[in-house]
Amino acid sequence: MVSWHLVLKLNLLLLILTPPSLESARLSCQLKGSCSVNDEIQGEKDSTTWAVLVAGSNGYYNYRHQADICHAYQILKRGGLKDENIIVFMYDDIANHESNPKPGVIINNPKGHDVYAGVPKDYTGDNVTSANLYAVLLGDKESVKGGSGKVVDSKPNDRIFVYYSDHGGPGTLGMPNLPNVYAKDFIEVLEKKHAAGTYKEMVIYVESCESGSIFEGLLKENMNIYVTTASNADENSWGTYCPDMDPPPPPEYDTCLGDLYSVAWMEDSDQQDTKGETLEQQYKKVKVRTYNHNSSQGSHVMEYGTKDIRVESISLYQGFGASTVADNVLINGTPMGVVNQRDADLVFFQRKYDKMIDGSQEKADMLKQINDIKNHRSHLDSSVDAIGAQLFGSSTGFMILNSLRAQGKPVVDDWGCLKSMVRVFETHCGALTEYGMKHMRAFANICNNKVTEAAMAAASADVCGEHDVGQWSPLKMGYSA
Ligand SMILES: *[C@@H]1O[C@H](CO)[C@@H](O)[C@H](O)[C@H]1NC(C)=O
Ligand SMILES: *[C@@H]1O[C@H](CO)[C@@H](O)[C@H](O)[C@H]1NC(C)=O
Repeated sequence: MVSWHLVLKLNLLLLILTPPSLESARLSCQLKGSCSVNDEIQGEKDSTTWAVLVAGSNGYYNYRHQADICHAYQILKRGGLKDENIIVFMYDDIANHESNPKPGVIINNPKGHDVYAGVPKDYTGDNVTSANLYAVLLGDKESVKGGSGKVVDSKPNDRIFVYYSDHGGPGTLGMPNLPNVYAKDFIEVLEKKHAAGTYKEMVIYVESCESGSIFEGLLKENMNIYVTTASNADENSWGTYCPDMDPPPPPEYDTCLGDLYSVAWMEDSDQQDTKGETLEQQYKKVKVRTYNHNSSQGSHVMEYGTKDIRVESISLYQGFGASTVADNVLINGTPMGVVNQRDADLVFFQRKYDKMIDGSQEKADMLKQINDIKNHRSHLDSSVDAIGAQLFGSSTGFMILNSLRAQGKPVVDDWGCLKSMVRVFETHCGALTEYGMKHMRAFANICNNKVTEAAMAAASADVCGEHDVGQWSPLKMGYSA
């Protein structure tokens, strides 16, 4: 056992090296054996750390996003943030779902420690909306609809941590109730918050496919906001701890438990007394793990915004307190088994199907459901291709729709155009769905090439006019823009 004498000596050494107010607060709380984030930042008077946690999906096949968010809550709570300062958006349809083998429990890791207990239900079900997210970030109580009414009522000296996990596509992040979050709207909310002067610094972690596209060319570097994303503007992010992969969830689970970037930062935060690590150190570790041994099944973790903030301790945003449960599954030497986020739902449905009794009605229904999903996907893919060919000619259409903009440029300049193109497409061809978000770049490029809404409508009607969109009608599901 390390003697108190040695601990004291080490702390006294640190005392000399770091500003006294901060260090003495840390020393005294360590001696008491109970540190909180407020002790950590006592050197900065009246500073509170706020957090906004957002799971952007619903459905049991999307288990992992809500599991990620619940896990993040446990880290912050253990780290000393108060419930009154943590605002959680989650649909809350997982813990008590009929497919959940452990009712009332959510796990984010094969070792299976519960992360659901105690999570505040601020915005659940119908109340998980992009409008509520914006109002919450802005501290705008009047505009919030439903939910707990909790908002980020922050002061100029406060810090804010935002963590989002879900599906996404170029320029957009999913929400369980449409419309989705659009990058331009989200960035405008951050700009408003900055203009209001109601925070000192903000850190945002985002997991989704193409998550870099939310910030690339959009987030200014002078807003005291530091961001890391699971992927660059043009690649998938990955679900992990999935059935039949390595490492697998416990055998009774038919769904993925986590996402690669998300479990990378959270298992890192769990592993240690976070006060020792800087944001930059965490970014670098997470980048390596999410790269997944340079296999094609990994993504490039990116950073955006005010890089000066990187030298700060992650405890300023996440609090500090090591996990008492050894839930970390770091694999050295082999890549983590992962699935492209857009195919994770099929992993779940296929597994359900495989377990059902041959010849049963249930099994026939599941097969139909799987085929309906696959058919709608290929309908979306082929429709987008055909619209591109109509608008730009069959030889160049595909190339134009898929072309990437130069690094540092946003996916689109005219965001109003992007939204209207999405609505026109959905009107004629059916809901984009989580899978179809991958086509956002095509719609962006249609706008970047100055196609009019009328021309887009004509092409979409022509390509999709005869197709019965059935359950995927935007009149039933809502428009994603
Ligand atoms: C939305 O919020 C309201 C107000 O708090 C609440 O009564 C309602 O149950 C919430 N809806 C869902 C689906 O959680
Ligand atoms: C992965 O590739 C990058 C260059 O693309 C290289 O710097 C890095 O060392 C590689 N990492 C591994 C684990 O092979």
